[in-house]
Amino acid sequence: MLLTNIHQLLQVRPATTRRIAGADMAKLPLINDAYLLIEDGLISDFGPMAYAPTDYTGDIIDCDGQLVLPTWCDSHTHIVYAGDRSHEWVARLEGKTYAEIAAAGGGILNSAKRLNETPEEDLYQQSKTRLETVMALGTGAIEIKSGYGLTVEGELKMLRVIRRLREEYPIPIKATFLGAHAIPANYKTDKAGYLRMLTDELMPKIAEEGLADFVDVFCEDGYFSVEDTELVMVAGIKHGLVPKIHVNQFTTLGGVAAAVQHGALSVDHLEELSEADVEALKGSETMPVALPGCSFFLGIPYTPARRLMDAGLPVALATDYNPGSAPSGNMNFALSLACTQMKMLPEEAINAATLNGAYAMGLEKELGSITVGKRANLLITKRLPSFGALPYNFGMPTVSQVVINGAFL
Ligand code: NIG
Ligand code: FE
Repeated sequence: MLLTNIHQLLQVRPATTRRIAGADMAKLPLINDAYLLIEDGLISDFGPMAYAPTDYTGDIIDCDGQLVLPTWCDSHTHIVYAGDRSHEWVARLEGKTYAEIAAAGGGILNSAKRLNETPEEDLYQQSKTRLETVMALGTGAIEIKSGYGLTVEGELKMLRVIRRLREEYPIPIKATFLGAHAIPANYKTDKAGYLRMLTDELMPKIAEEGLADFVDVFCEDGYFSVEDTELVMVAGIKHGLVPKIHVNQFTTLGGVAAAVQHGALSVDHLEELSEADVEALKGSETMPVALPGCSFFLGIPYTPARRLMDAGLPVALATDYNPGSAPSGNMNFALSLACTQMKMLPEEAINAATLNGAYAMGLEKELGSITVGKRANLLITKRLPSFGALPYNFGMPTVSQVVINGAFL
């Protein structure tokens, strides 16, 4: 397939760029009036229209006035869940807090109850609908977490659903084991016992079946302490799982430094952020991930992305798509929130949602930029004056077509 007359070809990078940090995030390399050639599902060539092949015999797509960029890389989601929690949201509108709802058996435990009652086939059907929806919105790689099982069978069921999605769909899907998402009722007074179940019983099974790439912990007051988080990270690493941690959503406990010390690929949420956290991230390989949809939906602070970038650090953007704190997997909306609420520039938001998102899933070698040899997972936008119009048109359908492995979705 040959794309011609592309108004702006965005995020053009050499293969050596693994992620974008600090002041570089404000730069978005592009080619005006460009062509892009796809062969065998990969980007094989691109450049200014003046150099476009003239003897091409395959499909030619005229992208006059349209922008072309890599698909969104959503590095943090919980799209495998059963039912929803819209009634809890209404309770919040009536004045209850997220913490109060959770304390009364709602929240994550409510989703866990529902998930354990749901047959695997039904869970797969519900989850695949969500995956198809976000792919149509422009997501071309996704990470999905377990964590609504909180039992051996429930967690394995979730991870098997993720594996089946990976087998059935053409986009890269990474699986994260989030058994340490909440303490289930039957372990309420025995957190150590629950952690043992996760590390000694579940992890060996997960490793044996190759069901997960990453290990996650909800490091938070009332959930898991820094010490618990370290214990789970160490056990995960022993089983070949790289840490990727929920931290600083409501409180700063020191989990960021612990995650960095254990080589976490990413630290996610960071709505709260201390100077010590920023210092811990400097010079590390750990990607800070902001989830603006969660801040929007819960009415909590937004991740201070500007502070992170001013400290020379990278930032990635993800949706956190889940039934409790962010029931939306729309990356376009996440970008709009990042710009309007976090004051990120469109260049910064696009870098955060493409290459940095790919990095936060360990996929930066195959996705996230316009680079020869990377997968042709591309967005072709509607006719837009420039890339700033993507986040500017919040909530509007700015994507015209999604290309996955060189084929239209
Ligand atoms: O990332 N913070 C922990 N986990 C999810 C929310 C889980 C839920 O409410 O179901 C999050 O926001
Ligand atoms: Fe999350």
